[in-house]
Amino acid sequence: MSKVKTKWVCQNCGYETPKYLGKCPECNSWSSFVEEVAVIQTSSVRKDAVLKGVMNDTKPCLINEIVIDNTIRFSTGIEEFDRVLGGGLVEGSIVLLAGDPGIGKSTILLQTGKYICKNDRKALYVSAEESASQVKLRAKRLGVESDTLYIYSQTNFEAIKNQIDEIKPQVLIIDSIQAIYSDTVTSSPGSVSQIRECTNILMDIAKNKNITVVVIGHVTKEGNIAGPKVLEHMVDTVIYFEGDRYKSYRLLRCMKNRFGTTNEVGVFNMCDDGLHEISNPSELFLNERTSSNTPGSVIIATNEGTRPLLLEIQSLVGTTSYPAPRRVSNGIDYNRLLQILAVLEKRIGLNLSKQDVYVNVIGGIDVDEPAADLGVALAVATCARDVCVSPDTVIVGEIGLSGEVRAINNLEKRIKEAEKLGFKKMIVPASNKIDVQSFKNIKVIQVARLMDAITACVGK
Ligand code: TYD
Ligand code: MG
Repeated sequence: MSKVKTKWVCQNCGYETPKYLGKCPECNSWSSFVEEVAVIQTSSVRKDAVLKGVMNDTKPCLINEIVIDNTIRFSTGIEEFDRVLGGGLVEGSIVLLAGDPGIGKSTILLQTGKYICKNDRKALYVSAEESASQVKLRAKRLGVESDTLYIYSQTNFEAIKNQIDEIKPQVLIIDSIQAIYSDTVTSSPGSVSQIRECTNILMDIAKNKNITVVVIGHVTKEGNIAGPKVLEHMVDTVIYFEGDRYKSYRLLRCMKNRFGTTNEVGVFNMCDDGLHEISNPSELFLNERTSSNTPGSVIIATNEGTRPLLLEIQSLVGTTSYPAPRRVSNGIDYNRLLQILAVLEKRIGLNLSKQDVYVNVIGGIDVDEPAADLGVALAVATCARDVCVSPDTVIVGEIGLSGEVRAINNLEKRIKEAEKLGFKKMIVPASNKIDVQSFKNIKVIQVARLMDAITACVGK
């Protein structure tokens, strides 16, 4: 009797070893190895494809002679979703939609069902987590009706493949990749081997049959897509659905896109009848703002993909009751905050050594671009000195270690957004060469140093 070969696979990153290891040498996670039966054969679909010559019939050719295939896109019917995808779903591509449980992944894809089935396009929605009647109940609530949208409650991948051959859909939705399993792999659904195998076959299906595949993936506690990082490498587009589960708005963020730009953000509101797109998110994030003057509250203009987003940054500075003062940041990188505080102490003479500093970006949004530096600095400085930045002012700029204000990208777009929302004053870096006179309804003040920005904001 031949011995069954097994291997140990890290469930975090997919690292394989013949022996058990306590700690993964690849991703350093502990106790993440699970024993799996080694799959000796490559996936049958891949083998078939090779035999048919689909995959190895290409030859090297000169770059000047390559004819570009026209990428055919079609709309999801949700403008914000289309924008994040770079203009719609691309035929024959594979998209991964990842997010926390309950964030609304199934909802958004079901909502698109109505539109992607237009022009007699057929879609197969594989629901591995819910029964067909549960999906129907939700579809009814969302007002989704279609003659060409098939709902299939199934977890077995071989059965799903048969239905793909039978129905021949143009769009395939898998909800979710962690819940389906292939008979060729012995490990349980959701394990690295299962995810890898199923995604491999899905990729073949997408490329060879020209089916657009959208795969839902869950996110682990740490915020990674459950399963190996290879999943992200394999697919064409990775989209994260994020947001505060306790608030109604959701963000759709593109992390990888072979057919367009990344870092586009789409904003949605979760209502009783599904997700509603918000085409002017700045208003949403600013609408809870009290119009009265509050020390430590500053409006910044960040740049999310092709669109500027106005956000409020709040700061609280107070005498500490701890041996070492506390620095707490939400939405701003912690080390970035420490650097800004160091510049404030050294260049402005603000003594924060006995002060706790809290900084928060309203709306649970993470701002990771340096253009927010000046806004953070002014929020802290005004709160420490108990003065206010007038509420109709927007502040942008990167701060260097010597206290200089550095240029940022897309400044004009940010100014226009502030102008559109009725702000009257904008503090911007002087090193950005722009024509300040071209903005009629907003006063643009160019500053070269942090001190100038403080003077311009509070007048002392
Ligand atoms: P769902 O799409 O099932 O999340 P996921 O697939 O990402 O796990 O969304 C579930 C949540 O959304 C659930 O808590 C209820 C809420 N919801 C609404 O508020 N309104 C709606 O119209 C729908 C369909 C869901
Ligand atoms: Mg779901």
